[in-house]
Amino acid sequence: MCGIVGYIGFREAFPILINGLKRLEYRGYDSAGCALLHDGHLNVYKAKGKVSDLEHVAETKDIKGTLGIAHTRWATHGVPSEVNAHPHVSMSGQLALVHNGIIENYAILRQRLMEKGVKFYSETDTEILVKLIEYIKDKRHCDLPSAVRMALHQAIGAYAIALIDVNEPNELLVARKSSPLAIGIGEDNREFFIASDASPIAEYTKQVIYLNDEEIAVIRRDEPLKVITILNHEVEPNVQTIDIDLGMLSKGGFPHFMLKEIFDQPEVLRDCMRGRLLPDKVVLSAVENYKDRLLSARRFIIVSCGTSWHAGLIGKQLIETFCEIPVEVEYASEFRYRRSTVDERDVVIAISQSGETADTLAAIEKAKSKGAFIFGIVNAVGSSIARATDTGVYIHVGPEIGVASTKAFTGQVLVLSMLAIALAKAKNCIAQEDYLTLIGELGCIPDKINKVLEQNDRIRELARIFTYAHNFLYLGRGYNYPVALEGALKLKEISYIHAEGYPAAEMKHGPIALIDSEMPVVFVATHHKLHKKIISNMMEVKSRGGRIIAIVTEGDEDMKKIADEVIEVPETENCLVPLLSVIPLQLLAYHVAVAKGLNVDQPRNLAKSVTVE
Ligand code: M6R
Repeated sequence: MCGIVGYIGFREAFPILINGLKRLEYRGYDSAGCALLHDGHLNVYKAKGKVSDLEHVAETKDIKGTLGIAHTRWATHGVPSEVNAHPHVSMSGQLALVHNGIIENYAILRQRLMEKGVKFYSETDTEILVKLIEYIKDKRHCDLPSAVRMALHQAIGAYAIALIDVNEPNELLVARKSSPLAIGIGEDNREFFIASDASPIAEYTKQVIYLNDEEIAVIRRDEPLKVITILNHEVEPNVQTIDIDLGMLSKGGFPHFMLKEIFDQPEVLRDCMRGRLLPDKVVLSAVENYKDRLLSARRFIIVSCGTSWHAGLIGKQLIETFCEIPVEVEYASEFRYRRSTVDERDVVIAISQSGETADTLAAIEKAKSKGAFIFGIVNAVGSSIARATDTGVYIHVGPEIGVASTKAFTGQVLVLSMLAIALAKAKNCIAQEDYLTLIGELGCIPDKINKVLEQNDRIRELARIFTYAHNFLYLGRGYNYPVALEGALKLKEISYIHAEGYPAAEMKHGPIALIDSEMPVVFVATHHKLHKKIISNMMEVKSRGGRIIAIVTEGDEDMKKIADEVIEVPETENCLVPLLSVIPLQLLAYHVAVAKGLNVDQPRNLAKSVTVE
């Protein structure tokens, strides 16, 4: 969702900006733009469509300059168009600004400025910021940082902004509230890079600062970075050393990031286990350090969205089964506004790949204000959610670029499995033998995923047969019920085929009415104590002409007799099955979308990091 890149230093800014925007393409966007300062002129270029369209627009133009800002816009207020694309410029044409987030009171601010004679050209909420900043600067005869502070005081909502001024060719201003912004510091302060996350920065420097809410950074060439709050208090910047594997930011020979990330899973899950899953114990420092707080909780509440919410449903079953602690799983977007009984006796587990999801962040803030202890399960290191939690466990699966989440899901489920096992041990409610069995089985998961991945070619063939379908039903029970939901979400996100996930036994309470020969039904039906009952559900589908694709445990002859198509996954402990049974569903969705000729990594209307409500 919207991406910001900026540069100030001694190199030509344009290639750095374009390269950075390409790194941020995964976030989802529908227009792009940039502003460059050169020889006292502000050159602004915009294009509807892709970053490559922007490059095309700029081809014959002046793209010189060592100071510039750039943006990819994911439309919220106003259609995707050149006029709505960022940067937006001030009335005098001297300031240019890019913005991520939403200014909720933009209409009233705009009305007030219009009454003073200020003109607006776009439908965006962003244009108000640059016009308000210039209005204040002129009216109060103050410097740019002061005008920015005063303007941001009036703005309600979320923002990460970057701003340049023709009259200040040595200065780049950035600020944030509820929208991420990272600043990379080059050697001897000779250059600075800004971006919505560290991925566009990593190839130039490892020294990064993540701005906190309501902080403004005044970035000047050859000078140490200055950070102030919007109340004008100077704060010491917290410089961190980032460790991003640049290989993870490229497709590595795969046609799409999504396929690469599906195939990355054995390796990144090993990374996630490293130092945590030992031969005879699970070591999670967050559990060691906060054991009493976690075990004294009256309940856990998991808050998350989308795929991370599906992982949460698996987490509930794991924690309730092994730790005997009641767990509720809430959509963060509902939890944040609902009257809730959350208080200091609760532990809230926030799950997020990006660490920037606005609803999850707001749910955390609400739970915090009621005194709950916050435990994060996050992928993006240093992200807003990671920083808002009391403690947590990073899933460490590397940057996930494909909009459809794959390796983050299995990383989250792996961390939840380790968390449940570690807590159960700490609570003394798991037999040593069971503890060791689960540890041993977890260690085998990467190799077993490799065995599932070997069936990629077959799943590709299968996908071709089913590209005609307009609807899919996904059914599963127990630990496989959230997997069915996840399989359906993957398919609809990237293939635009309507798909629904249900607990298998719920089929007879409604969805069975949909079944006919046009309706493929995916049963996630690995060995389970309710195996026979799932077979009955399959027979019900069969007798109504439905086509069955079944994900089964290796050697399950009963299922093979009934299903039209079968994909086998290796045997494992029932509670760990989602780590295997989800893999064929990721591949199925991927191959259906590819067969339909769709943009798998950047599906329409979707954003990778949902930083608005
Ligand atoms: O970054 P998060 O895990 O907080 O994101 C939550 C959802 O937006 C995300 O899982 C979304 O549903 C994905 N597109 C799923 O593939």
